[in-house]
Amino acid sequence: MVKKKKACVFISGSGTNLRSIIRNSRDYNFPININLVISNKKSAAGIYFAKKFSIPHIVLEVSKEKFEKIALKELFSRKIKLICLAGFMYVLSKSFIRNFRGNIINIHPSLLPKYKGLNTFKRALNAGEKMTGCTVHFVNEKLDNGKAIIKKRVSINTGDNPEILKKKVQLEEYKAYSMAIRKIYRLS
Ligand code: GRF
Repeated sequence: MVKKKKACVFISGSGTNLRSIIRNSRDYNFPININLVISNKKSAAGIYFAKKFSIPHIVLEVSKEKFEKIALKELFSRKIKLICLAGFMYVLSKSFIRNFRGNIINIHPSLLPKYKGLNTFKRALNAGEKMTGCTVHFVNEKLDNGKAIIKKRVSINTGDNPEILKKKVQLEEYKAYSMAIRKIYRLS
């Protein structure tokens, strides 16, 4: 039985990656427990999964400065060691990241360094790519720029549109996020 580290997931939206991490974290051998979920949106559907799995959750629909101040206090007081960003739409400040350096990870829907930022599926399709995917990476001060932990590839087929591609990539994301979490603790 591993001594699980305490983790928090930051969300802004549907929370389907949150759901898959929670499910995997129930495995006795998984390196982390999700002890807290923080959303910066009251309307985030993903809050449902925190409730469903009886995980404490906090909604902070406030300015980014206030969000970071309150979140840091909560994270420290609850002894959280890892922050997983999963569809979280604030770009965290340098000073926030400094407090958790090397312990914040994110999932991005492209094969980084390609297609940083938004609308990754549309951009990959417009560029005529035959392949895209997702990347779980460490978060540093630059957007979608930290060291990659895991990448998963998805082929782009004739007739794919952004919606179809999103569904295909998300299925890989659900595996990739937990694989990345297992990997970082095996290596550390
Ligand atoms: C994911 O596709 C992720 O790559 C991107 O935002 C989406 C979040 O989806 N960063 P969900 O909230 O986990 O359903």
